[in-house]
Amino acid sequence: MRIDIISAVPELLEGPVNHSILKRAADKGLAEICVHDLRTYGRGQYRQIDDKIYGGNAGMVLMVEPVAKCIEDLKKQREYDEVIYMTPDGKRFDQPEANALSLKSNLILLCGHYKGIDERIRTHYITKEISIGDYVLTGGELAAAIVADAVIRLLPGVISDETSALTDSFQDGLLSPPIYTRPAEFNGWKVPDVLLSGNFAEIEKWNDAMALKRTEERRPDLLEDN
Ligand code: ADE
Repeated sequence: MRIDIISAVPELLEGPVNHSILKRAADKGLAEICVHDLRTYGRGQYRQIDDKIYGGNAGMVLMVEPVAKCIEDLKKQREYDEVIYMTPDGKRFDQPEANALSLKSNLILLCGHYKGIDERIRTHYITKEISIGDYVLTGGELAAAIVADAVIRLLPGVISDETSALTDSFQDGLLSPPIYTRPAEFNGWKVPDVLLSGNFAEIEKWNDAMALKRTEERRPDLLEDN
């Protein structure tokens, strides 16, 4: 899988791309993450990428031309399954969306900045708009890093324990049950006996019951959706 991220502040993506699961996936040859600096496509000597909003409202907007040039350049090189704009106006990102995107081959993630992007980009290039939550970030970079992380970790071989991505919270519409590791007792606080019993059928039953209990207590909305 390849993810191209278009950004006006590519420095913001250095950490996630060079030090997270994204780097591990790239090192294993399972994913390619390429960050593109929008300023390379900027206008004139000053590489201008933003301008004032038409109509008098305060704030700056990413201009149509640099974004269009960058997307066109990428599209000349390969076909993209989706051209995604990261925006609080988009569809709320969730596990089913991460699962669906992990089956694609090539994605573009476009990060907004300032007040946003010229609407013509949304009309003519964007195939999907994603929000990571009902709050406004300064730019789409952190949101793009979150989407890339959630998608890339699902690719077979990226995380060492192959079953672990499938047992994540949300994969079955439930939160995860509590988990423990050694020692079996600390400060008098004991790991539940069933987990030490070696009875895998009982352990599975306990995990299922605890996942349901935790979901009922913390996220009853997840149960209503089913
Ligand atoms: N850009 C700014 N805020 C955002 C959000 N909540 N989700 C995705 N992209 C954004």
